[in-house]
Amino acid sequence: MCGIMGYIGDRQALPMLLDGLRRLEYRGYDSAGVAVVRNGRIDLRKASGKLSRLEQVVKVAPVAGSVGLGHTRWATHGDPTDRNAHPHADCTGRVVVIHNGIIENYLALKEELLAAGHRFQSDTDTEVLAHLIEAEYRGDLEGAVRRAVSRAHGAYAIAVLCADEPDKIVAVRYISPLIVGLGSGEMWMASDIPALLPYTRHVIVIEDGEMAVITRDSVRLSSVDGRPVERPIMHVTWDAEAAEKGGYAHFMLKEIHEQPRALQETMMGRLDEGRVVLDGIRFPPGFVETLDKIWVVACGTAYHAGLVGRWFLEHLARIPTEPDLASELRYRDALLAGNALAMAISQSGETVDTLTAMRDLKKRGARVLAITNVLGSTVTREADDVLYIRAGPEIAVASTKAYLTMLAAEVMLAVDMGMRRGTLDQARARGLVAGLHALPGRAQEVLNREPEVVDLARRYASASDVFFIGRGLDYSVAMEGSLKLKEISYVHSEALAAGELKHGTLALIESGVPVFALVTQRHVKEKMLSNIQEVKARGGLVIALAYEDDEETARQAHHVLPIPRVDDLLAPILAIIPLQLFAYHVARERGHDIDQPRNLAKSVTVE
Ligand code: G6P
Repeated sequence: MCGIMGYIGDRQALPMLLDGLRRLEYRGYDSAGVAVVRNGRIDLRKASGKLSRLEQVVKVAPVAGSVGLGHTRWATHGDPTDRNAHPHADCTGRVVVIHNGIIENYLALKEELLAAGHRFQSDTDTEVLAHLIEAEYRGDLEGAVRRAVSRAHGAYAIAVLCADEPDKIVAVRYISPLIVGLGSGEMWMASDIPALLPYTRHVIVIEDGEMAVITRDSVRLSSVDGRPVERPIMHVTWDAEAAEKGGYAHFMLKEIHEQPRALQETMMGRLDEGRVVLDGIRFPPGFVETLDKIWVVACGTAYHAGLVGRWFLEHLARIPTEPDLASELRYRDALLAGNALAMAISQSGETVDTLTAMRDLKKRGARVLAITNVLGSTVTREADDVLYIRAGPEIAVASTKAYLTMLAAEVMLAVDMGMRRGTLDQARARGLVAGLHALPGRAQEVLNREPEVVDLARRYASASDVFFIGRGLDYSVAMEGSLKLKEISYVHSEALAAGELKHGTLALIESGVPVFALVTQRHVKEKMLSNIQEVKARGGLVIALAYEDDEETARQAHHVLPIPRVDDLLAPILAIIPLQLFAYHVARERGHDIDQPRNLAKSVTVE
């Protein structure tokens, strides 16, 4: 996720651009830049690293002017270097563009523009937009931007400045967020509301497929194909803290609700007509085809993501996969033989147990693939390949959107590996890719049923024990659901393999104990229904988590949390959402510090 800020008015733009960028830094940053128009020319300043580096650059070489754009970047295409930082200019330097999102067809567009004589200065997808606008410019910036974006596929919030039309900013949104702030004789634009709050509380939210032409005194909206659009002005009443949380009471709830968007970002540009194309991974020829084993090392929630990943990799790519708690593997004297891949999964990329286990496997000859959220983190510097989950910054200690996007990344990896190894046929791959495409919408449907989870949380908030049972993939999801509850509500909870109940744990079930039964895996459904009977016979209260059309399971449970029907393999990505919400609402009922639970830290950099 990148951050966008713009200003047009009578005041100096630079201080406001920098201030807005600072407020957007939570969206991730590896470089930043500003562009300001004055006296018929555009001045650009860029710097890799944190915003403070850009501040030093503009201290030495200031830019003056009252119309400008600023950008913080979180790299997707091209390394985080000075020249890849935004804004990007056309060949003449008279058009500059900032962009949040991904232009999926940028390589084809770049080849075409290079053949037409355009000279590129960066490795980014964004720069093609500047050159496209240059190619389309015939004295009318608005028209040129319209024609340029009609050629680009993907997701974007872009803003454009042109030295020949210095009294306007043209902005377009498709998927990535964009807000305009209104003042008197001045206007702002940004990726989100918190960046604008010091300046105005009157905002217009640009919707998908819309263009805004912003001058000092007006904002004119239209669809990208030119039809006028009317949109009421919104008055924001949040205080600054609530604004950072997007109006949610806690970061955790905000992050739970961000999951459909996060999933979209994870998959953006990586799914193509029944195929998966993973950027950042360059396995040597023949490596995947001859892989003997995958070791997964991770901690906490990332380890739970690894347990689900094992299922994907073994089932789709037929590669023996062993997830291990990083802190255990290190001291286990594990046997490493043959052609092995070590998969280190870590949201932060800094968890010391994971790093040490990964280094150990690397020293012993394994190639290392990191699955992580944080660009430039230690794990990314030491791994051979990196698969970014692109969840955006996760602030709540209890991990939610990172887990969901780790699972989506693992499915894509398993599909890619399965295709290479010939263990996955084209039709099944197409089905899974189509299922992945639909997931953000399905995840939103699950979130829309939050009130049902709130009712359940109120009912069971005072329980002293809560159990989660499941088989196969459902058991792995049960472990994550149970961890969420423990972490933030401090309720004693365990995930039990449903088939193991009769071997001991059934002794824990007594009258009135809430038991979540996950029933999304067709091949073990009958067995799960028997386990539900075992629990009910001991007085347990069963909350089934099942597909919404599964009436048979619904009939046998005391309560049901339904999810839309999807391929069983993708069910974990939806099934965890009601469990995250349950943990959150129980913790809230119990009055805990949800974003910073006692005794826990977001990133554990000590052993
Ligand atoms: C800490 C956090 C957990 C997280 C684990 C692994 O314990 O509290 O939420 O799952 O570290 O973190 P990582 O950044 O490696 O995914």
